[in-house]
Amino acid sequence: MAGSSPTLRLLVGLGVTLLAVTAFSFYALSQIHGLRRLQREIVDRNRKDSLQLIRIQNDLNSLALSLRDMLEGSEPYPLEAYAVEFKRIRSDLEDAFRLEKELSPATRLPDQQNAMQASLKRLWDRTDQMFALAASGKEGEAKQMIRSQVLPEQAALTALVARLLVANNEAEQQTADRIEAIYQGVERNVYYFLSAVLLTITAMSLYLIRANKRIFGELASLSRQRQVLAQKLISVQEDIFRSVSRELHDDFGQILTAIGVMLRRAERKGLPENSPFRSDLLEIRETAQQTLEKLRSLSQTLHPNVLEDFGLEKTLEWYVRQFEKQTGLVIRYEKRGIGPLLKEKDAIHVYRILQEALNNVVRHAQVAEAEVLVEYTDEGLRLSVEDHGVGMPDPRPESVRGLGLIGMQERAELLRGRLRFERPAQGGLRVALEIPFREAAV
Ligand SMILES: Nc1ncnc2c1ncn2[C@@H]1O[C@H](COP(=O)(O)OP(=O)(O)O)[C@@H](O)[C@H]1O
Ligand SMILES: [Mg+2]
Repeated sequence: MAGSSPTLRLLVGLGVTLLAVTAFSFYALSQIHGLRRLQREIVDRNRKDSLQLIRIQNDLNSLALSLRDMLEGSEPYPLEAYAVEFKRIRSDLEDAFRLEKELSPATRLPDQQNAMQASLKRLWDRTDQMFALAASGKEGEAKQMIRSQVLPEQAALTALVARLLVANNEAEQQTADRIEAIYQGVERNVYYFLSAVLLTITAMSLYLIRANKRIFGELASLSRQRQVLAQKLISVQEDIFRSVSRELHDDFGQILTAIGVMLRRAERKGLPENSPFRSDLLEIRETAQQTLEKLRSLSQTLHPNVLEDFGLEKTLEWYVRQFEKQTGLVIRYEKRGIGPLLKEKDAIHVYRILQEALNNVVRHAQVAEAEVLVEYTDEGLRLSVEDHGVGMPDPRPESVRGLGLIGMQERAELLRGRLRFERPAQGGLRVALEIPFREAAV
């Protein structure tokens, strides 16, 4: 009937769940770190690089505009007058190229970078030559140079920069796609993880509920078995006590009484008053009489016949008085109200509870007085045995639940009643039994 304990399985379940949560937390954190790195190292850097490329494009456009102005000669200045403007654009371009080189993304090929640098260098070389020609008064040759060499180089460089911008955009798009894929992966895994955790928790809870139910079932059944056994024991004990008591009283009592009668008859059979045989017979008769009294007393202790003859109330009172005589305990006995007669088979349990409670007072309470109250109420019978002695140790250790207390409890349950061990205000112990008439009355 005993099933295995669920503790080990629950511990394993708990361990697996904790491990899964830890592993998933590490996974989620590493994904977040990865995302942050992608964002910082690729996307942000790419954008900054693109800004520099756009700046370069602007400068190159300004340069082209100035070159066209120089060619069309719409302004009334000599070509040399443009040198200041070119210097400004050049310094800005140099700065932009330097920054752009620092920021250039990882996808940039060295060839592309070199080609751009070379083109820039060619552009400045040709511009310098062009201004040199203009300075020496060869405006016509200078313009020819603008047309055939400077402008084409500017256009080539502009095209190169535009290609790099497009490449940057593509790289950014790819990174955005990667980031999106990571987000989707994490999201999917969160759903899987949550489902797995919910499933595990549900399975564990179901298992726990089932195990609990089984354990409680086993406990209830064990408790029932124990109760049945204890009550069986009590009733067998009562049967044996009753039959031994009857045997002693009826059979052996009869025999001893008969022996006494026969001895008395023998005494009278003409024996002289002072014959030693007669005094022997007298002695034997007295011994038989004493044995008969002891036998009756033993018979009463085993099972009080007074219960059958006079009912519970009288028996309790008789026992209390007898107990006082035997032990010297002073007992205040009180009976309140009147009630129906209890069946003998129920009354014996009340009697035994009183017996045990009074014996406990003498054995454990360390007092010389006790109170016994028998009370009939509308609902049933109440018996309380109270002393103001040392009381039960508190909290009551397991060892204190001796067989006497358990026996009292079992008898109370046999009566469908309730037995409580209370501490009166003055200290000590009150054993309070309550039994309903409905169950116990005749
Ligand atoms: N009236 C009482 N006063 C103090 N302690 C008591 C009293 N009745 C019972 N006890 C405590 O409860 C314990 C169990 O009692 P019981 O089951 O009758 O076993 P036993 O009398 O054989 O020791 C006792 O050993 C004692 O410590
Ligand atoms: Mg006892």
